Amino acid sequence: MNVLGIDIGGTGIKGAPVNVKTGELIGERFRIPTPNPATPDAVADVVRQIAEHFKWKGPIGCTIPARVEHGLVRTAANIHEDWIDTPVDDLMQKATGCPVTTLNDADAAGLASMRYGTGKGRDGLVLFITVGTGIGSAMFYDQVLIPGIELGHLRLKGAAAELYASDRTRKQKELSWKRWAKRFQKYLDRVEFLFAPDTIIIGGGISRPSKAEQYLPRLSTKCELIVAELENEAGIIGAAAATT
Ligand code: BGC
Repeated sequence: MNVLGIDIGGTGIKGAPVNVKTGELIGERFRIPTPNPATPDAVADVVRQIAEHFKWKGPIGCTIPARVEHGLVRTAANIHEDWIDTPVDDLMQKATGCPVTTLNDADAAGLASMRYGTGKGRDGLVLFITVGTGIGSAMFYDQVLIPGIELGHLRLKGAAAELYASDRTRKQKELSWKRWAKRFQKYLDRVEFLFAPDTIIIGGGISRPSKAEQYLPRLSTKCELIVAELENEAGIIGAAAATT
C-alpha cells in the first residue's frame, strides 16, 4: 500500500509517496520552503500544494514538530503559537480532501527507524533522540511507541535541554564538535540516569555520517548508542507508516 508522507520542518515541508510495506519512497521528494509566519492556515496550504503536486487521492501521514494528542496540537516550542489546540488532522483533511493522520516529528522518525531501519528488531526500552533545531524524542518499549514523550524539554543548566545541546545551539554559539559533544554527553547522562534505556538511537540532522564521525567517538553511554541511517527521509517514511 502507498501512503503520501509529509514532513513539516522549520525550513522546509517535504513530501513523497511511500511504500509502507518496504519503507521506500516511490517517487521524487517534493519540497516547498516553510511559510513565514508558519501559521496553521499557511502550513495547511503548503500541505495542499504537496498533495496536489502528486495528484494524491488516498491516505496521508503528516509530521509536526510539537506534541499531538488525539489530533490536537498541544505545544509550540519551535512553531507558531497559533498551533496550540489546533485540530491538525481536521485542518489537513479539509485542505487536501484526503484522510490525514498527524504525529510528532520525532515519533515519526523513530517509527521509521524501528520498522525499516537501525531500530529493527531492537526490544526493551529504546529512546530515539532527534537533534536539529530542537531536540525531539520517541520512546519504544518492545517496539511499541509510547507517543508524546518530550525529552528535549528536560531541564539542563536551568533551561530546556534543547536550548543547551541542540544542533541549532551548536551553530549559533559556534561550538566546536568537541565542546558540543561535551554538552550532549551531559544530556545523555541525564537521560540514561532517568530512564535506563537499553538503546539510544540518535536521529535528525545530526545523524548524517559526516557529522556523526565528528562527535560519536567522543560520546559514551552504558547502553548501546547508535546513529540512525534514514536521515532526511525518516520523517516522511515514518509519517506514512503511522497511518497503517
Ligand atoms: C518539540 C518537539 C519536537 C522537537 C524536534 C521540540 O522543541 O517540543 O515536539 O519533536 O522539537 O522538532
